[in-house]
Amino acid sequence: MNLVLGVGGGIAAYKAAELARALLERGHNVQVVMTRAARQFVRPLTFAALTGREVITDLFPRGSQPALASATEHIRLAQECELLVVAPATADLLARFAHGLADEFLTALYLAFPGPVVLAPAMNANMWRHPATQANVETLRQRGHLIVEPEEGPLACGMVGPGRLAELSRIVQAVEAAAARRRDLEGECVLVTAGPTLEPLDPVRFISNRSSGKMGYALAEAALARGARVILISGPVHLPPPPGAELVRVETAAEMRQAVLDRLSEAGIVIKAAAVADYHLADVPRQKRKKSAARWSLELDPTPDILAEIGQIKGDRILVGFAAETENLIAEARRKLLAKNCDMVVANRVEEAFGADDNEVTLLLRTGETIELGRASKRELADRILDAVLRLRLSLHAAR
Ligand code: PMT
Repeated sequence: MNLVLGVGGGIAAYKAAELARALLERGHNVQVVMTRAARQFVRPLTFAALTGREVITDLFPRGSQPALASATEHIRLAQECELLVVAPATADLLARFAHGLADEFLTALYLAFPGPVVLAPAMNANMWRHPATQANVETLRQRGHLIVEPEEGPLACGMVGPGRLAELSRIVQAVEAAAARRRDLEGECVLVTAGPTLEPLDPVRFISNRSSGKMGYALAEAALARGARVILISGPVHLPPPPGAELVRVETAAEMRQAVLDRLSEAGIVIKAAAVADYHLADVPRQKRKKSAARWSLELDPTPDILAEIGQIKGDRILVGFAAETENLIAEARRKLLAKNCDMVVANRVEEAFGADDNEVTLLLRTGETIELGRASKRELADRILDAVLRLRLSLHAAR
């Protein structure tokens, strides 16, 4: 694979030479890009000798008359590159990535590159713990980048704490994981439902729930990044649709059901992350109810259970449901897995899942397997859920 190894300006820059070698040994083509600060720590010649390629250091090569090609070199490399790994990613570099600065070659390349990014931060412990750095890391994590957390231990500055560049084997592992996910959904169509539904009580009032759409949109984004065509059927949310997704906006459970049935034949994987209202007012009055001192009692009817209905007609599709519970999470999720004929149910707790950027989920599979995905950003969990979907499909096909 064509990798770019970005080297930031920290003491750990010398370890990037070992990393370059480890990546070359695994058969990757490695193009090294160094920041201005990195060149204070290690000479480009070290990397050039290891990789057999000129190291890129400047947007405009010094000493020579800037040629037209040099003005667009970062774009050319962004098109050729399949994965960007940055080690060490300094506090300054993380801040520039997070805020979209394009003030030197590596930061301009980062902005021009739409593919997978692996970041291995290394810095002084206080710089790592600083809320500004943590906020930048969180922004980058939410963007779907893999962060290889620094390790605890004695640092070059004399302090002991978190900030040491992760073991090279962990960085290589992260690169291989990101590379494996790269385009493994090419040729697939994934249908995702997201957000809440909104059930009117009259022309101004409605019942809804606290779903923000973040989980469903993260799944759509992850599937797109892995090469899938994505149909995103979304209740009302305040999120921008992931570029490239075929967005179908709906409001009510009935509209969501119709949209899912209309598009079902196109999809091989269906993931129902939406929080569909379970009850609605069947006959919505056309006029606004006037306020009065009298009690207003409503009789609500159940909405159609879309997941259960799809479970009956899914054929060979992989059907993933979610279960959001306040108690008996795993037992309830298992009950839904069987009752709705799903291949997988993603179990999460109501109090942790709704509206948050992170989540903690357990997967229950048709095969009887239970997988703890742990706590992570919804974007990272989306990738882990898709990893599990692909593995499950393989094992179901093998069992046939
Ligand atoms: O949107 P976020 O703020 O990021 O929050 C994410 C989430 C909490 C909404 C998500 O992680 C989640 O758990 N979604 C499912 C919420 C839910 O409605 O769970 P449930 O246990 O009530 O429903 C079980 C499954 O049946 C779900 O896949 C749901 O989409 C589906 N369902 C439910 C009712 C119904 N009438 N039709 C359905 O298809």
